Parts: sequence; structure tokens; C-alpha cells
Amino acid sequence: MNKKKKLFSIAASAVIAAPIIFTTSSFAGANASGIQSKLERQLSVNRIIKDIERLSMDELLQDNKDNARVTGFEGEHEAANYILGQFNNLGLNTEMRTINNIDGFIDEGATCTVNGTNVTVKTMTYSQSTTGTVEGELVYAGLGRINDKDNDFKDVDLNGKIALIKRGEISFAEKAKNAFANGAIGVIIYNKDPGMVNGTLGSLDDSKGPTVGMAKEDGDSLVTKLKAGETINTSLQVKTLIKPNSNSYNVIGEIPAHNNSKDPKTIVIGAHFDSVSCPGANDNASGTATILELAKLLSQPEIKDKLQYNVRFVAFGAEEIGLIGSDEYVAQLVESGEAKNIAGMINLDMVGVGENLVTYNLNDTSDHKVTDIAEASIKELGYEYGGHFNSGSSDHAPFEDAGIPSVFIQFSKDPYYHTDEDTVDKVDPQNIYKTSMVVLDMIMDINDKKQDKLNNIVKVNKVYENQEMPRK
Ligand code: BES
Ligand code: ZN
Repeated sequence: MNKKKKLFSIAASAVIAAPIIFTTSSFAGANASGIQSKLERQLSVNRIIKDIERLSMDELLQDNKDNARVTGFEGEHEAANYILGQFNNLGLNTEMRTINNIDGFIDEGATCTVNGTNVTVKTMTYSQSTTGTVEGELVYAGLGRINDKDNDFKDVDLNGKIALIKRGEISFAEKAKNAFANGAIGVIIYNKDPGMVNGTLGSLDDSKGPTVGMAKEDGDSLVTKLKAGETINTSLQVKTLIKPNSNSYNVIGEIPAHNNSKDPKTIVIGAHFDSVSCPGANDNASGTATILELAKLLSQPEIKDKLQYNVRFVAFGAEEIGLIGSDEYVAQLVESGEAKNIAGMINLDMVGVGENLVTYNLNDTSDHKVTDIAEASIKELGYEYGGHFNSGSSDHAPFEDAGIPSVFIQFSKDPYYHTDEDTVDKVDPQNIYKTSMVVLDMIMDINDKKQDKLNNIVKVNKVYENQEMPRK
């Protein structure tokens, strides 16, 4: 059946579609286009924008406006409760699962001066703060390696000094650990590619002191001066707010399949609701608010009664500190044996800003069947498709690792990503509309063609672009 009849249906194609009926309980056949245009009419982008606003500023946050929903902090917990309340209001089967051992971290800014001149630096996540400032000579320590082959600290005296280290080869954490073990009082890691480096040390750790990133351009110029024998007196100030051993939540709301459907499988629609230390309107109040609206639309009795899949919405916490929420959720699915009942996963992350819709999978070897459905929906709705890329930077990744076919849908690119400028006014209602339509179309499509779409799908043999998308 030609899918063009969907959502933007015209009367003629609805007539053509009419004689084709799969099962009485499916959306297929005469009803399909009617239901879809009804959903289209009911879809309220305004409601979604309001929720983005609510999640990224005032109402929930009061005096904590700049740190909307930082993992492990109050704003994130309030957001979790808000989402749970919304799912409950819709009559979904809800559950809130606590994620333990979360170290909350807020960057409150870092400054650096070299011979009295300011240079822009960026606090590494989980860096320690300074009491006041630390001051010392700047020392170049190469890539900061200590291994069987290389010791970048062999000929350098770092005692009481600040290490300047180039990005690459080993983790930021390892570089910092090595430098502090060699007596450094501060560490600056500069980029190997143009621009600033935005990194994490992975965990709170007393053995690593204040650690910041620096742009390649500034780092290169400092290294040149050091190599020419110049002495560079450096000061470093790092302010952080930490909340060790806090927690986060995964919030689950499910619309069960119609009780006539035999052994229904489950489709997961996910979005993370935590943020880094910024309003996080696009990343990812946009995806969160969109799944709330989709839950509202799909939970109406008229739709619900025709679902051949359980549709499970999962709002993930603790994404920004390493996909902790989705990782734990998938581990629970695997442990309970439920993973094999998950037909597919659709992840919405950053769907409000940018030029066009893009899709991602973890890598070329992961199952692309949900991605193929997404791509087909985007194209059939007449939206511009920005292409397919590889990324492991969002909540689809643990699902794909567990062998669950998934897709990460996004608008790309967002110039305000992880900055204070990630505010609701940047969100384009058109993007929200298109994303919602794509997911509705995908769900209808999967539901209509249960037999050939997700159950026994024939893997499409096609070559995917194996590249990571530029972020900004
Ligand atoms: N939404 C981003 C991921 C993203 C941004 C993907 C831009 C593609 C383009 C996500 O919230 C994020 O920031 N993830 C972290 C990685 C994660 C494993 C901690 C990131 O990309 O730094
Ligand atoms: Zn995100």
C-alpha cells in the first residue's frame, strides 16, 4: 500500500486504500487516513512549546533558572515529577525508577590568566574547584602519557606548576591523573582540532585537581612561547557545585496494546529530560515535551483500542553524564528477559532547532530497520532529509548495544548546543510539528503492517554513511 495516503491524505487515495484491510483491529484500511488526519488536527505544537518553556525556565525552577534540569539536582527531580504527573493524568501505566549513585556536577565558570592576560577556558566535568585561585608557572607536558613506550613527564618538573597538555591518544582523566601524580596544581588540556574542548573526567575523584579545557589556537600559541623558552605565569580559578551520591530517575508511561492483540510487542519512544548546566530547551526539553504530546494523542480511547503494540514512553534521566539512565533501563530489560519483547526504539533528542531532520544509529552494524521506517516517513511526508549518520551520544545507544533496533531522530544542527543560549525562543515550532508527525506516521505504519514491518522484517540492504555529524 502506498503510504502517501497518510497524514496529508487526499480523498482519492483514501478511496484507493479502502479495499485493503489487514485485520479488523488494525488501523489499516479505510480508517487509516481518517485516524491520521484526526491526529494531525489534534496535535498541538503550542502545548509542546509550553512544556518546553515549563521544563527550561521559570515555573519549575524559580531561583535556579540557569541550571534547568542538571543531572542529580533539584530541577531534574522536579522535571521527573512533572513528567510522571503528566503520564498519570493521561491514564498511562506509570512507573518511576530511581537511578542511584549519581554525582551531580555544575560548572559555575572558570577563568585563566597567562602573564596577566585572560584566556578562555572551560571546566572539565567533575573537575575539582579551586579555593580562590591556583598560581604557578605553565609547563608543557605533551600528550600527558605514562606508559611502556612514552613518558611525557620524564624531563619536566611539574611540582607546584600548571600543566599544559594536548588532547589525544588517552582520556582526559588519564592525562589529569598523570599530571597531578607528578605534582601539578592545575591542568589545562587544549584541543587538537580548532576550537574549544568540552570534556569530562568521568567521575568525581580526589586524586585529580582543577582541570580545564582550552581552544587549540590558544594552546598552540602558548606551546610555541614555552618552546621558545618564555616563562608564563599562570593563574587558574575553577568554580563548581557538586552533589555527590545523588540520584536521578527514569520515568515510564505505557499505553498497553489492545487486549485483542496476541502477545503484543513493545515500541519504546524515549527522550532524556536532564540537561547540562544550561536551560536545555532544545537539549532535550524539546524531545521530552514532544513525547508528552505523543502520549496524549495516542492514549485516546479511539486510538488505544487499535494498538497492536504496547507503546511505552520512557523519559530518561542522567543522559548527560554518560547515558546512565538509558543504560540502566536497558540492563533491567535484559535482566528481566523483557528485552526480546521490545520491537524497536525511537529516541528523540534535540528536535527543535536546526535545518533538517537527520537520523543516527550507533554504527553500521546495528540493525537499521527502525531507521528505514523513519527515513520513509520523513520522505513520504515531504520533509527535507538531512541524511543518516553514526553517533553513540544519546539514549538509543544502549538499546542498540542490546540488539534492539532503534533510531535517533534529531533536527540538525543546533548552534546553541550546551550553551546558555539553548532557550525556548530558539525552538522552531515547525521542527516540533515535523518531528511529531514523523513519529506518529512511524507508529501508524508499524501498527498497520505489523506482520511485515517489525516482526519479520526483511533487512534492507543498503549502505549507510559512516560518519559523525558536526554538532554546531
Ligand atoms: N543531545 C546530545 C547529543 C548530540 C548532540 C548528538 C549533537 C548529536 C548532535 C546529548 O545530550 C549529549 O550531549 N551527549 C553527550 C554524550 C553522552 C554520552 C554523555 C555528548 O555528546 O557530549
Ligand atoms: Zn541531549
